Amino acid sequence: MIRKIAVPRGTSDILPDTVLLWEELESKARKVCQSYGYREIRTPIYEATALFKRSLGSTSDIINKQLLELKTSGEDSYTLRPEGTASVVRSYIENSLDSREGLSKLFYIGPMFRGERPQKGRLRQFHQIGVEAIGPNSTSPYLDAEAIALSIHLLREFGVKGHHLKINSLGSKDDKAHISSWLREKLASRVNDLCKECHSRYEHNVFRVLDCKNESCRRLVDALVKDLPLSGTSQTYFQQVQGALKGAGIDFEIAPHLVRGLDYYTHTVFEITTDGLGSQDAVGAGGRYSGLMHELGGNEKIDYGAIGFALGIERILLATSAVPPMVGQGAGVDAFVVAMDEAYQPQAFLLVQQLRGVGLSADMNYTGGSIKSQMNKANKANARFAVILGEEEMKTKTVSVKNMQTSTQEQIPWGQVVERLK
Ligand code: HAM
Repeated sequence: MIRKIAVPRGTSDILPDTVLLWEELESKARKVCQSYGYREIRTPIYEATALFKRSLGSTSDIINKQLLELKTSGEDSYTLRPEGTASVVRSYIENSLDSREGLSKLFYIGPMFRGERPQKGRLRQFHQIGVEAIGPNSTSPYLDAEAIALSIHLLREFGVKGHHLKINSLGSKDDKAHISSWLREKLASRVNDLCKECHSRYEHNVFRVLDCKNESCRRLVDALVKDLPLSGTSQTYFQQVQGALKGAGIDFEIAPHLVRGLDYYTHTVFEITTDGLGSQDAVGAGGRYSGLMHELGGNEKIDYGAIGFALGIERILLATSAVPPMVGQGAGVDAFVVAMDEAYQPQAFLLVQQLRGVGLSADMNYTGGSIKSQMNKANKANARFAVILGEEEMKTKTVSVKNMQTSTQEQIPWGQVVERLK
């Protein structure tokens, strides 16, 4: 027997009934993002590997363990995108959006790829709804608050209940450097008490020690986290963000341990978790990343500001336990043409094409069978009208049109049926 080929691990098919759920979610996302002034951008699903290596940070899990690099015959190295921010910034710079518009407010919906160990809520191909607001001199606590408000608004619109917003500030680029040396100094005599992974983090990215879940690391860090030397300017900025969130009635918790796993963040970072998702409980996360534009070749003379977030669609669907509609209960067709004999199929085919040609949705049976089974097919197709072509109809050059809701039926000449159904 020939062995079947299965879907790759950590990916899944989205079957037609479930696609209806996705379409609804995507259309809500588009509407809400547009109401905040965001416009859709579509970038390729693969990019030069260097783009991700330069933006996400050499010590991040994504770069170290999860990049899905493509095998190509040439010299160039390409990788399936693990996230959307780097691609949007690349496109923003490449298309000189900074000189075309003041602030670019962009959103995207699409698949992302990470070579993770698959488990509930953690996939190798997953989908994100992401937004990025990038622009010259676009650093305002209200933009941070707007992005956060938008993420919460989207989750409410999708029906995600029991979500918790955590926010923190990592400070400016200088603050981050200063805090790193401060942390290294404070932890220097306790390095042996850190877990194995944090040994390496201590050397290469000491910030990540702050969000380690290991008990002994957590104890050491708890004593330090309240005193992190954030500059006065960064503290004021963070307080302004909090003030704007409070003003908008958005509940949040300050989470000094939250540092995020991607290197590009400065100042505000945030994460939204929900109840009932187990260990992979983050439905979305984001933050400010104003320094990334220069790291990817943006105009040195411009002082860019940027903030964004991404929500995971699969986790949203898990959190809402959304159920696809009943099999066959899709949008339905306007007309289902039933040919009672194989010999009538040319006329049936001509009719469905004419109906489609005037913008109606139409389908037909291709397999024959009794009138009962044919009408069942029309029912399954959720048809508004069944258009029957039997012996009598062929003789009189008519069709019998049955209204599937009222069960009333009338005979209509071929030349009038399209206009009547329209
Ligand atoms: P992230 O935290 O890596 O951030 O991902 C955002 C969301 O994508 C997560 O909260 C989660 O819901 C979903 N997600 C991530 N990995 C997986 C996975 N393996 N399986 C299923 N869902 C997953 C980013 O991607 C940043 N680019 C967000 C951002 C935009 N920051 C600024 N702008």
